[in-house]
Amino acid sequence: MHIVHTIKEVRAQIKLWRNEGLSVGYIPTMGFLHEGHASLIKKASEENDRVVVSIFVNPIQFGPNEDFEKYPRDLKRDSYICSSNGAHLIFAPEPSEMYVQNNSTFVDVENITEGLCGAKRPGHFKGVCTVVSKFFNIISPDRAYFGEKDAQQLAVIRKMVIDLNFNIEIVGCPIVREPDGLALSSRNTYLSAEERKAALILNKSLKLAKASLEAGEKNPSEIKRTIIDELSKEPLAKIDYVEVVDSLSLKPIDSINNKILVAIAVYIGKTRLIDNFSF
Ligand code: PAF
Repeated sequence: MHIVHTIKEVRAQIKLWRNEGLSVGYIPTMGFLHEGHASLIKKASEENDRVVVSIFVNPIQFGPNEDFEKYPRDLKRDSYICSSNGAHLIFAPEPSEMYVQNNSTFVDVENITEGLCGAKRPGHFKGVCTVVSKFFNIISPDRAYFGEKDAQQLAVIRKMVIDLNFNIEIVGCPIVREPDGLALSSRNTYLSAEERKAALILNKSLKLAKASLEAGEKNPSEIKRTIIDELSKEPLAKIDYVEVVDSLSLKPIDSINNKILVAIAVYIGKTRLIDNFSF
């Protein structure tokens, strides 16, 4: 497995593979990889001849008071996880390689970025879509793999790929959880032992909501109430949002008739965690 840092090097390698008629799978990441990323790399290596992982903490998707500076970084550890799960190439550019000074072009996907995380993190999806478009143009993969934990991100990328005619299949992969139910996230590393315990409330509240849906509940407000009541029992938890939305439009709904996404964002101490399920 190779690690490269420039666009020129990635393009040269991809060209060699293309000349041999090989297919390319791609996983965009911000590094500090965990089993969730490993599952994407494994799936990509089953479905493609070659697998590229990008590792780039993208400055333009972080708000001014967010964790860009302290976001965990460990390329050595990441390269071990990539190679042991079947990746062939890591592309780990510096910000100066990805953004020329006075970058003037951004990709903004409208409508489905207005609620959920989009409402709470202004500019976040513009940053995500811009960087992912750039990686798609640099790598031109056949398939790109995204985790369902960032359900809105996955929906936004699917929409962007349709709207901008990227010839790339977007593959969504299930959330990977710790044995006790906590969804894996690079940000879990910020949690103290006490907060780590408290964070279990996210999955617990979603499980209660799912049970209620399975029992026939059709009122989205009741589902939200169930989750809010449960989250409120945890003193370290501060709700950022609890939403029940249509799974395609990501718009709030009055009654549950089609496929829905139940999505939450909760601060545990200073750490913002997200989780969701579809029903
Ligand atoms: O999900 C992430 O880690 C990031 O948003 C992504 C897709 C790598 C873009 O920076």
